[in-house]
Amino acid sequence: MKRLVDAGRDILQWADELAVFSEPVFAEKGQLTVTYLTDAHIQCAKYLSELMAEAGFDEVTRDALGNVIGVYHGDGRLAKRLMTGSHYDTVRNGGKYDGRLGIFIPIAVVRELSRAKKRLPYPIELVCFAEEEGQRYRATFLASGALVGRFDPTWLEQRDSDNVSMSEAMQRAGLPGRLEAITTLQRSGADYLGFVEVHIEQGPVLADANLPLGVVTSINAGMRGICTINGTAAHAGTTPMTMRQDALLAAAEISLMAEARALKDLGSVATVGQMQVPSGSINVIPGRCIFSIDMRAPSDSQRDALVTDVLTQATAIAARRGVTFECRESMRASAAPSNPIWQGYWERAVEKIGQPVFRLNSGAGHDAMMLHHIMPQAMLFVRGGNRGISHNPLEIISSEDAGLCAEAFIAMLEEVASAHAKA
Ligand code: HGY
Ligand code: MN
Ligand code: MN
Repeated sequence: MKRLVDAGRDILQWADELAVFSEPVFAEKGQLTVTYLTDAHIQCAKYLSELMAEAGFDEVTRDALGNVIGVYHGDGRLAKRLMTGSHYDTVRNGGKYDGRLGIFIPIAVVRELSRAKKRLPYPIELVCFAEEEGQRYRATFLASGALVGRFDPTWLEQRDSDNVSMSEAMQRAGLPGRLEAITTLQRSGADYLGFVEVHIEQGPVLADANLPLGVVTSINAGMRGICTINGTAAHAGTTPMTMRQDALLAAAEISLMAEARALKDLGSVATVGQMQVPSGSINVIPGRCIFSIDMRAPSDSQRDALVTDVLTQATAIAARRGVTFECRESMRASAAPSNPIWQGYWERAVEKIGQPVFRLNSGAGHDAMMLHHIMPQAMLFVRGGNRGISHNPLEIISSEDAGLCAEAFIAMLEEVASAHAKA
């Protein structure tokens, strides 16, 4: 197996170059934030298009959602494609490998194939998904969801914090911004062999096991919602503690309850990532509090039990405190077990490059959860440095691990070829 040390080094360089594009407020602080269809996002799409063309992709296009798509033709034996890819948007003040590693690895691999003038029996379609994190709009997995027919038309009318609707943002980015231009992007699973995604682990498991690569067995189920508590704004000095309907304290009690409830399960998590008191004042009891909730578990049933318990207890807490509580669900994604055959491709690929096979599930959500609905999928994780911290600028990987991942990717492609080409 050829060592791809150069590829590993180039992948980190590409990540640094792509991270140059960040939104103004964050860029001034040296932070990376690229949300859907901002100027920085559009610059990223241009950078990725050029990188893919230079790497030897035969076709590079940008679709109506802002996905950047590269196709590396096969030798003609198989029409069905292998799809791969990940997202290039980021969370606020995020890391530069989340999603993007799953784009750079296939680019480095196609560059190797192109340089060697090697064609596989099938085409490779790399999709750089334009929106996965759901930051600017509450539309998580927007791009991969659209490819499997799960684009919610109401998303087009959603407005961001600057009151810009998604369709307006699309048109400003030179995209149609019309539903009919989006629904035509839906793929048929019959046209594909399957989907593979490479991603940083975003956790400490591989770092603690001191292993560079991990084969994903399943992606956890998730649910997200935006909760609103309405109480009574009142004077902070004159209102006795026993006569208050404090919206923020209710939200705080609910947050701590969610933590306690998640701790009761093996593998469940609950997170309140955002909380605000709209137009709050230092000397006014919060009359309103809006907060997010993110709950996940290894199975749909465990997730559903967690969500039901948390929402039921939240309603009881609100009633006891004399406030109202509502939760508007913004995302619900089923657990996505890896297809056993495709998981096997990754396992044999990892063995082929001389690495131990280590299996783990994914606590993070990924675009593969969407492609899971229409084709077989499996993922490979790469060890994160700094004990795998992610959604944080400390996110880091090594060029050696990136190189090993590229080698495993090539070995996986060969596994797919030998499994399908003789068919
Ligand atoms: O939140 C997640 O699991 C992913 O980063 N979208
Ligand atoms: Mn992420
Ligand atoms: Mn990600």
